[in-house]
Order: sequence, then C-alpha cells, then structure tokens
Amino acid sequence: MDGGTDARRINIYALEDFAGMRAAGRLAAEALDMIVPHVQPGITTAALDRLCHQFVLDHGATPAPLNYRGYPKSICTSINHVVCHGIPGERRLEEGDILNIDVTVILNGWHGDTSRMFVAGTPSTRARKLLDVTHEALMRGVRAVRPGATLGDIGHVIQAFVESQRFSVVRDFCGHGIGRRFHEPPNVLHFGRPGEGPVLRPGMFFTIEPMVNAGRPEVKVLDDGWTAVTRDRSLSAQFEHMVGVTEDGCEVFTYSPAGLHKPPYTSAPTRQPA
Ligand code: MF3
Ligand code: CO
Ligand code: CO
Repeated sequence: MDGGTDARRINIYALEDFAGMRAAGRLAAEALDMIVPHVQPGITTAALDRLCHQFVLDHGATPAPLNYRGYPKSICTSINHVVCHGIPGERRLEEGDILNIDVTVILNGWHGDTSRMFVAGTPSTRARKLLDVTHEALMRGVRAVRPGATLGDIGHVIQAFVESQRFSVVRDFCGHGIGRRFHEPPNVLHFGRPGEGPVLRPGMFFTIEPMVNAGRPEVKVLDDGWTAVTRDRSLSAQFEHMVGVTEDGCEVFTYSPAGLHKPPYTSAPTRQPA
C-alpha cells in the first residue's frame, strides 16, 4: 500500500457535505440508542435486525448492508469470539454475552456507519476490561485526527494503547473512507507507525473501527463467507465512529445522542437505562 497513490484517490468533500454526513451518522447512532433496552438474554439476533431495519426505514433511510455484496441482513451482530460481520439469525443472547451491533444507513445518499459493544446481562471482569480498552483505543484514534496528521499516527496510537493492555489488534479488517459510497479509499489501519501513510486534509470522511482480541490477533472467516472469528476463540470487541476532518481537528458524526456510548447501559429486565 503506497501512501502516496492512496492519498490521491481520497475524496475531499465540500463543507456543505458535512451536513449530510451529520444527519446520516446521527440516525445510525440513534438506531443503536433505540436497540439498547432490547439487548437482553433471550432475544434473537434476528429480532435485533428486524428492529433496526424498521427503525431505519421509519426514518426515511435504507440499511446499507442489506444485499451489499450479497450480505443477507440489515445489521451485523458479532457475539463473543466473533470479530465482525456476524449475520443475525436464530441465536438467542445468553447471560454474559458481549456483542457488537454495527448499523449503516443511507440517508439522502449519505452513509452513516457506527457500531458499539453491548452486553446481555452482566459481563465477566475480563470482558468488561476488553470493552473499556477497545472503546478507549477508538477514542485515542479519534483524538489523533487533525489536518497534517497521518493515518499511521492514528493506527499507532490505537495499537500502542491496546498492546500496553496486553490485548491484540486485528490486522485483517480496517476502517475506510465513506460518504456517497459505503467503502472508499483510504484503508484506515488500526496499527502502524507515526508519520506513515496518507496525510489528513479537511474534507476527508472515514471510519475508525478497531477490532481488539483478548488473545491472539489472527482471525478466520467461516463457511458462510462473512462471519469472522478469532482463531484461538478468544473474545473480541469493536467500536466504530465516523469522522470528518475539519480545519482544526475532526467532527465525530456518530456520537450517541442519548449518551449511551459504552456498556454498561443494558439492564436487567427490571431496570431501565438511565
Ligand atoms: N458496517 C461494516 C463496516 O463497518 C461493514 C459491514 S458490510 C456487510 O464497514 F456487508 F457485512 F454489512
Ligand atoms: Co465501517
Ligand atoms: Co460499520
């Protein structure tokens, strides 16, 4: 991957395009806020998919994953050792499961892509630490985004933090440019070296979405062609934000309007989230 040629293919969007991304990112984040009270032991991932699908349609948007390169559902649900791209189905959540829910909407031609971790009931201490570290890694990456920084700077801060906590960064999947298209240049790696890769400029839109494993970084894709799992079956976590580079830093398009950025925000059936 030559940083130079990659950089020349990165779209520079106009100031007025930020409004479209703001709306799309907000809707995707609102879908995740909506699903919070439903993530409970006993629900199927297919039911979570139906709820998100309907929510997106009700708000005048379409779910980008549905039929994307043959993907069969509207969201991805990745439980425990599933790294990403888990396909919703009849699997019921069990007490202590951790899962990533990844929503991408298309609203007025703009893509809004975000994911968070959820827990069914109460997570183990180790799972809780994995979620905290993964969220902090994402936010350290976000804080590195500004004009003149490079993609390598972002990857480096994420990798350095994750490895300092004795977890590992998945190498096989990365963040991506986004806007009028779901996936466009550049690839946003979650590892790297300071100063390497394309230089960030105002008007670039991309996701940061580190996948962090409690064990080794290697993954494999199951026979369904989508579901990526850790080879050592260790737990995996991921959070995803979509950002736009501004003159003095970045705008995060996918913050939770309800402030539900990371667990614990699920609850026993008797307790509602704050
Ligand atoms: N939303 C995922 C991402 O963050 C992509 C899912 S592609 C799908 O890039 F086809 F699996 F939906
Ligand atoms: Co993405
Ligand atoms: Co996503």
